[in-house]
Amino acid sequence: TNPEISKMMDLYAKATQLYHHVLMNTELGQKALDYLHQRGLSDQTINDYQLGFASNKRLLKPFFEEKKIDYQTMHKSGLFSETHDDQLIDRFANRIMYPIKNEHGKVIAFSGRIIQASKNEPKYLNSPETPIFNKGKTLFNFDIAKQFIRKEHSAILFEGYMDVMSAYQSGVKNGIASMGTSLTEDQIGKIEQHTKQLYVCYDGDKPGQAAINRAVNMLANQSRLKLGVIQMPSGIDPDEYRQKYGEDRFKNYVRAARESTIAFKLRFFKNDYNLNNDEDRIAYINRSLKTIASSPSPVERDLYLQNLSSEFHLKSDDLRAQIKPYLIKHQ
Ligand code: UTP
Ligand code: MN
Ligand code: MN
Ligand code: MN
Ligand code: MN
Repeated sequence: TNPEISKMMDLYAKATQLYHHVLMNTELGQKALDYLHQRGLSDQTINDYQLGFASNKRLLKPFFEEKKIDYQTMHKSGLFSETHDDQLIDRFANRIMYPIKNEHGKVIAFSGRIIQASKNEPKYLNSPETPIFNKGKTLFNFDIAKQFIRKEHSAILFEGYMDVMSAYQSGVKNGIASMGTSLTEDQIGKIEQHTKQLYVCYDGDKPGQAAINRAVNMLANQSRLKLGVIQMPSGIDPDEYRQKYGEDRFKNYVRAARESTIAFKLRFFKNDYNLNNDEDRIAYINRSLKTIASSPSPVERDLYLQNLSSEFHLKSDDLRAQIKPYLIKHQ
């Protein structure tokens, strides 16, 4: 094993310990701990994910020095920014620290969340890429989730880290998230090693819905995964659902709200049309037919054709005739 890599892993393990200790056992971390408790995260979850707090007291460098971590490793860790006079200043200050682990459960990066929303600072700040952290190859929670992905025969892709932890606390343990970007070929490959089925469960707000549409289109082209959507109620994200309705209802909802990507799209596309206007209705119906035609399953196509026919009071035979030209690619 490469000594540079193992030294860096060791540094990240030690940083995780310090941040976690500050959160759980010190006055400096009290506000952050109160905040997490207020959001309904249990001490069990906080411990399982080794959440922490980075204070603004510059504790990291003296802590590392006491642990005999060398300057070069600190310098390359991404946990410091460097001043003109070669000082190492904590990159994360006043942030709640979520450790990002590799698939073997070793911490390789952090995402830090500010407690109070602010215009001047991003809500989440991630570690930069380092010799041990490549964000396109990392899936949040994959170390824990992979055994549950096998057991449940499916994975659930969430938008945020907090959604994944919320799901875990509610007993939904096959959840993962990317690092705030769309899935890469490498991440898709990792998921495909454990399951054929992926559900996308993003936020119920507008950006979340648009992101679902992009994600399922990309995955339909770039992966062999069977895809589904878990639709959150309008305007809320999975973590907010759990806060509002509790863990049991969250768990039931995630099971009950599964739908096909076609059902998702037929609803999502409605936002682009004024369905009181005939021209728009016809355009929407045509787009729906194209979407339905993309299913290779005759039964699924027939189901949605019939829904469309009753929704718009159209003869299903007419819809069947009109969908024909779009079907060619399946023959
Ligand atoms: P959201 O804004 O939906 O955050 O961004 P969230 O997960 O619900 O977080 P809470 O509940 O407010 O704590 C979704 C994801 O987008 C990335 C993060 O990965 C986040 O989890 N993101 C968001 C960033 O990387 N930076 C940001 O400033 C905001
Ligand atoms: Mn602990
Ligand atoms: Mn969001
Ligand atoms: Mn969110
Ligand atoms: Mn949220």
